[in-house]
Amino acid sequence: MRNNFWLKLKTPILVLAPIAGFTNLVFREICQDYGADVVYSEMASATALYYNQKEKNKTLELLKKSKKEKNYVVQLFGGDEKHFPLATKIVSEKIKPAGIDINCGCPVSKVVKQSAGVDLMNDKKRARKIIKAVIDNTDLPVSIKIRKEAYGTTAIEFVKYLADLDISAIIVHGRSLKQGFTGEIDYSVIKEINKIFEGKVIANGNIYNLEIANKTLKETQADGLALARGALNRPWLFEEIKKEKPINLNKKQLFSLIIKHAKLAEKEYGENTVVALRKHLCYYMQNFPQASTYRQKLVHASNLSDLKEILKI
Ligand SMILES: Cc1cc2nc3c(=O)[nH]c(=O)nc-3n(C[C@H](O)[C@H](O)[C@H](O)COP(=O)(O)O)c2cc1C
Repeated sequence: MRNNFWLKLKTPILVLAPIAGFTNLVFREICQDYGADVVYSEMASATALYYNQKEKNKTLELLKKSKKEKNYVVQLFGGDEKHFPLATKIVSEKIKPAGIDINCGCPVSKVVKQSAGVDLMNDKKRARKIIKAVIDNTDLPVSIKIRKEAYGTTAIEFVKYLADLDISAIIVHGRSLKQGFTGEIDYSVIKEINKIFEGKVIANGNIYNLEIANKTLKETQADGLALARGALNRPWLFEEIKKEKPINLNKKQLFSLIIKHAKLAEKEYGENTVVALRKHLCYYMQNFPQASTYRQKLVHASNLSDLKEILKI
């Protein structure tokens, strides 16, 4: 029997979606503190895990979890089903996450070139072999992340084709491959998947504030929401949804969050980490009234004391 943590969560289940370059253990911890029930790693290559089995390697380093993390899901991407049994075992044994996810929606060319990501929606048979390989090689619950439509295959057809597999949850990004990362979300597809799929259905796409979060839940009837760029802007959006009330951080609260993030990052990754943090800072500042003035300064910050100086905190 799988230890299926998804079944123990109250709905709506709030998920931090996988975001390459962003959802490291520090940001995951911040989101969990704000109320995220499940947090995803950024995508990690099954092929890299297959070929590099050294005790210490970059992929395992990328997937490291903190002691505080509860429902941490590792997302794997890859195009070759032969790489997944071993990659799955390595992740299950060495990282010990709560679940494993398979990326079936990423349109980025360096991923698609490896016949991975959204390319799996173009080849249902291979997708099935990959997902089955993961399921057969772990006791952890397995989820997949898909798009509303790609290469003429709808999410509904894709899910029906996989119906007999023991998949615990599906994150559905309600945009087609053609739409990429912009444009309207198709709520009806997510609602339809909810009717045909027995596991948890998590709606994703364009959830930037409480109003849209509520609308997405209402229109899709999904079991939960996965926040991506909305969480980069406002990680406290998890708390807003949980408490069902809007929260507007004032300047002092926002700057305290930035310093908290920088301190956690410095502790985890060392002193030069603030440089890698700049992209986070730009997201945090996006809706802030004097954003551009601060952003210009923040992109030059190299360490925690520079940050404190700029933010006068
Ligand atoms: C910078 C960036 C990196 C992403 N990395 C991943 C990833 O590693 N795995 C994945 O499944 N989706 C990835 N996504 C897609 C998001 O998880 C999400 O599906 C998409 O951004 C739509 O949600 P949003 O409109 O709330 O941002 C990424 C998106 C962005 C913007």
